Amino acid sequence: MSAAPTREAVVAALRGVHDPELHRSIVDLGMVGSVEVRGDRVQVGIRLTIAGCPLKAEIQRRVVEAVGGLAGVEAVQVTMDAMSDEQRRALREGLTGPDRPSPFREGSRTTVIGVASGKGGVGKSSITANLALALARDGATVGLLDADVYGYSIPRMMGVTRPAVSVDDLMMPVEAHGVRMMSIGFLTEEDSPVIWRGPMLHKALTSFITEVWWDDPDYLLVDLPPGTGDVALSLASLLPTSSFVIVTTPQLAAQRVARRAAAMAARVNLPVAGVIENMSYFVAPDTGARYEVFSGGGGAALANELGVPLLGRIPLEPAVASAGDAGLPVVASHPESPAARALEDAARAVAAAVPREALAAN
Ligand SMILES: Nc1ncnc2c1ncn2[C@@H]1O[C@H](COP(=O)(O)OP(=O)(O)OP(=O)(O)O)[C@@H](O)[C@H]1O
Ligand SMILES: [Mg+2]
Repeated sequence: MSAAPTREAVVAALRGVHDPELHRSIVDLGMVGSVEVRGDRVQVGIRLTIAGCPLKAEIQRRVVEAVGGLAGVEAVQVTMDAMSDEQRRALREGLTGPDRPSPFREGSRTTVIGVASGKGGVGKSSITANLALALARDGATVGLLDADVYGYSIPRMMGVTRPAVSVDDLMMPVEAHGVRMMSIGFLTEEDSPVIWRGPMLHKALTSFITEVWWDDPDYLLVDLPPGTGDVALSLASLLPTSSFVIVTTPQLAAQRVARRAAAMAARVNLPVAGVIENMSYFVAPDTGARYEVFSGGGGAALANELGVPLLGRIPLEPAVASAGDAGLPVVASHPESPAARALEDAARAVAAAVPREALAAN
């Protein structure tokens, strides 16, 4: 039998345990309250950032795994309580510093991409969710900001029902499928109408940017509401390094509307990185034959007109809709499907098309 571990060895093992939301060592976060070694039994007291922490079981599992793996440990007992207000404030200040500027100003390492369209229902949210997953699957850290405050759909599409939690007054993004997200849907009861007016809307978006622990992801994708209204203006001032990706469908009428989104980008002085055409064609599942359902070539025409690349053509595919309804976007649920492959390719094209100076400077 191995000798009992030292307290230092237990703390060193705990240092390797990361909080699932904060992505920092629980030791550095001040979450380890007590460590007692009694022979082959180790007792660890964890201070949760909030009492009803939804990730409690996961934290416990990680602690047991890390400490239980030490030589000489037979049993690990984890007790949990909640941090005091004082401890939470210290933790929050440790994360953000005492004053909190917008984390996405000039010089930020994050590439910010707003997904826009002139009209509703063209697939912005589906595409944003899938691009986020695809970028994360390629190894990037990805944040997804649902800026559609009235018609939010990201929580459902990403299959998230738990609410966002806060540490002191810092909101934690909700993470699923490797993507860190914030949506008004994590803060309100589902199906309750959001009745905020203009100034409130700006305030909500401001707090989604400055009061959320985004932790400098490689990408921040922003799912914009349909149209070219206030939200784009707010975002342009809050996220001055953004580029837009414009989603359109092949029909020429849709392209005309998408052109308005491009005009909006020009008005707020932000570049358009490219165009994604959605519902471009249909691949018959039995024969693999490709049908151009809507004629028009709107995506290519718009890209041409704007002098930007066409970053992808995504087929019309029932799995895109069913996967979105089921809470697991198609790139993860049907990775071999034509739509998933087109979305993966589009994600790589987006990554190649967006300006990366900020990254290079780091
Ligand atoms: N390529 C596709 N194939 C099949 N269905 C799709 C495709 N893209 C989107 N859809 C479906 O079309 C509907 C609208 O898509 P989505 O909600 O992503 O659009 P949107 O542009 O975000 O809409 P809104 O303007 O309301 O925010 C959804 O039911 C979605 O599942
Ligand atoms: Mg949408």
